[in-house]
Amino acid sequence: MKTVSNINAIKFDSIPVDPFWNTGNEKESKMHRIHAYPAKFPAFITTKALEFVRQDNIPIGWIADIFCGCGTVAFEAKRNKINFWGCDVNPVATMIARAKSRQYKSKKLKIYYDLIIEEFKRLENERFSYEKAYDRLKYWYSKQQFEELARLKKAIMESIPARSNYRLFFVCAFSNILKPTSRWLTKSIKPQIDPEKIPADVLSAFKEQCLFMMAANDESDAKGDSQTKIITANFLNESIEHPTVDIIITSPPYVTSYEYADLHQLSILWLSYTDDYRKLRDGSIGSLYHTYNFDKELKRLNSTGTKIVFRLLNKDKAKARSVAKYFLDMQQVAQVCRNMLSDRGIALFVVGNTEYKGVRIENARHLTESLLNSGFTKVSVTKRKITGKILTPYRDELGRFSTDKNSRKVYGEEFILIGRK
Ligand SMILES: C[S@@+](CC[C@H](N)C(=O)[O-])C[C@H]1O[C@@H](n2cnc3c(N)ncnc32)[C@H](O)[C@@H]1O
Repeated sequence: MKTVSNINAIKFDSIPVDPFWNTGNEKESKMHRIHAYPAKFPAFITTKALEFVRQDNIPIGWIADIFCGCGTVAFEAKRNKINFWGCDVNPVATMIARAKSRQYKSKKLKIYYDLIIEEFKRLENERFSYEKAYDRLKYWYSKQQFEELARLKKAIMESIPARSNYRLFFVCAFSNILKPTSRWLTKSIKPQIDPEKIPADVLSAFKEQCLFMMAANDESDAKGDSQTKIITANFLNESIEHPTVDIIITSPPYVTSYEYADLHQLSILWLSYTDDYRKLRDGSIGSLYHTYNFDKELKRLNSTGTKIVFRLLNKDKAKARSVAKYFLDMQQVAQVCRNMLSDRGIALFVVGNTEYKGVRIENARHLTESLLNSGFTKVSVTKRKITGKILTPYRDELGRFSTDKNSRKVYGEEFILIGRK
């Protein structure tokens, strides 16, 4: 692990992979697979980070994940009986994270499960108006699929009181079957219809999903009374409140890789988070859709950010604007992270580089410089291998493999950056 206090004193390319961060020592809990989520990171990173921090004898009262996604760190914090504070701007992310971090009694889950199935059958003759549904939902579902999902949603809401923790468990199950039961192209990271697809049957998909989640809950060892606080918010919103934390473990969003609001539009609409999912792009770091004064803000970029944005300007002005906004946001993230840490606190980021039209988007270097500029005294940098990465490193606009070197490049390695306050 290389420790730096000056950005010019480090060559990111020559940093070797540290096998310590490559794999975990235990099997990942099933609970981490209860809902699909893009760019979820491996659960063992949390355990490794705790091991690493404990070598320094730093007392750990609170862990935070400022981009908590589907709650990987939240669940691992609970397993380790450490208080957790998490934040994500995407309400689908925080719904999954909360569902994962609660404790459920197996018997009670089974009782509610049976009640929902019974209620679903009882509602067979009820009418659910497809005609009045959001156009966006009609786009993804046939009349039959839509009506069955509406019936299932009603069955869940009527079987479990709103104030019960158990409702969230089944809402999460419902959310995870919304893509398989629709025309959404399976595994696509861009919203796209698959004209060949035969959508899964609603009731069978729900049953299978609940049985998997119930088995995951039975197996879960995340017990105990540590606190978990998860908020749905833009981390850069000044009015959010958080505790002082001892460790931040997080993986930031990438620039223009995923539009989380678009990707989760089915859950967002079905669960009524908003009637226009596009509104949720606002505040999402790395989104393509931001309006700001590019010429004025450019001056605030650090030296790594400036170099990359100017290289990109020659290739693709719109992309350069998006990358500049991303870098500016990440500079602010570094500052806010420093402010929320306790005196000897540590912030750990898992971050990878990408490449666009031959320009390397060096996220790791940019974030290291941002951390140093924000007053982190030292930043340690190391590399890990991403397991399961496929041979073709390029992705097209739909996230599919591509041999076109003008496409987005994804690397098989990523960086671990550890900033000390
Ligand atoms: C790489 S993912 C994190 C995945 C997470 N480690 C997991 O295992 O699920 C990045 C997350 O950042 C969130 N995000 C983007 N902009 C944000 C913002 N301004 N405030 C909070 N979260 C944000 C996205 O919604 C996404 O869930």
